[in-house]
Amino acid sequence: MKQFHEKYALGQVIGKGAFATVRLCLCKETNEEYAVKVLDMRGSDGSDKSSRPSTERLRQELRAEQRAWSQVAKHNNCVFLAESFIDNYFGYFVMERCHGTLLEGLRSETELNEYTYAHYFQEMAVSLAHIHALGVIHRDIKQDNFLLGGPEGRTIKLCDFGLSAVPTGEGPVKLTGVYGTAPYMAPEMVLPHGTHGEPCDIWSLGVIIYTAFYGCFPYMPKEKNSEAMKQVVRGGVPAPAFVPNKKFRQEAVSDVATTFAKALLERNPASRPPAVKLLKMDYLVNNHVHEQQAKVRGLKDISLQPMLHGAVRAGAFGTRAPQGDPNAESLLMELQNRANARLSAKSQLQRGTSPATPTEGMSDEDSGRGRRPNGSSKGLPPKQAWDSGSTKAGSSQQHSDSQQGLEAQHGT
Ligand SMILES: Nc1ncnc2c1ncn2[C@@H]1O[C@H](COP(=O)(O)OP(=O)(O)O)[C@@H](O)[C@H]1O
Ligand SMILES: [Mg+2]
Repeated sequence: MKQFHEKYALGQVIGKGAFATVRLCLCKETNEEYAVKVLDMRGSDGSDKSSRPSTERLRQELRAEQRAWSQVAKHNNCVFLAESFIDNYFGYFVMERCHGTLLEGLRSETELNEYTYAHYFQEMAVSLAHIHALGVIHRDIKQDNFLLGGPEGRTIKLCDFGLSAVPTGEGPVKLTGVYGTAPYMAPEMVLPHGTHGEPCDIWSLGVIIYTAFYGCFPYMPKEKNSEAMKQVVRGGVPAPAFVPNKKFRQEAVSDVATTFAKALLERNPASRPPAVKLLKMDYLVNNHVHEQQAKVRGLKDISLQPMLHGAVRAGAFGTRAPQGDPNAESLLMELQNRANARLSAKSQLQRGTSPATPTEGMSDEDSGRGRRPNGSSKGLPPKQAWDSGSTKAGSSQQHSDSQQGLEAQHGT
């Protein structure tokens, strides 16, 4: 099995999340272009008091992400995972390349109203219906984790399965722990001793919809930090108004759209409609009819662009600042150069000429054994306002797949 750097050539950085850097990459065999999500796997070895998780824990998390993402398989509204790799330093998820963020898509709409939004929400609900049918709970549904891709670059694609769970066992799903990004967390996620399942994703989609319609989060604490946000979601007071803030001087969306938003933000998870039911709701099913009727009544021109500005100001996009070790980039390039040198030496040997660059004759695994990169971070940078306190901690999942499985895993 080839290592990542032997099979792919790295290109420019196209995205950064809280945990990963995403780059373009080219398959050296087929010349096909992909995106690769690179995760720094250099954890603490337990000998220092670093707040960075242990390497073993990072590897477990990588395997969990790989397991959930592979389960999702190929679907129009989910970013497709082609294959994954791990070496001594990094984990690599090679995936379908997308062409834009949700915010770019929304900003490019000439008319952004509840009817245009219905197309976006429909595809988001389809992606949730798909993953839930396969037993995957995403647990970090938010604007940043929907990308635009497909042939026209207009298809909504769910990405980032880094906090996803694939619970096993019979009966209703009862996961424990606190996962995700505070403003999107469902009440049952933040309640003491609360358990969560698929409905937590529905709630988070409800938060996306609320910000789109009303320009703010359903719950707005006075202080803008994760703890305050979780507290106000837990308490449920003041309840969401389902009207735009007065400062927008704008009419609300139609009753049909409001009914839709309210259904997703049902505080009782058992009363929240599953994704398949959302797809049958009036707002989505009869969108075209509602649009025609609004046109006749002269209502079609109510633009939701001001609400989008409000949502951006409230922090609904770019919810987590990129973290990570600045040395990771140079280490990544070094691994790439080493792999290239090995490949060129190999091809020269095959042609019967002597290699121009001497190589160590070792795999990345061998050459890196026991080595700690210079200046590796001793701890994670400070958390951002909407970071969850324990995003990846306290997993209640069982991980049975081995590292070997991760290295060898291919998508379908
Ligand atoms: N397949 C892709 N094509 C293009 N850009 C991507 C792709 N996947 C992720 N990105 C970009 O990289 C960012 C970080 O990726 P993500 O998987 O969300 O990482 P993290 O787990 O660190 O949040 C995304 O918000 C997006 O801007
Ligand atoms: Mg992300």
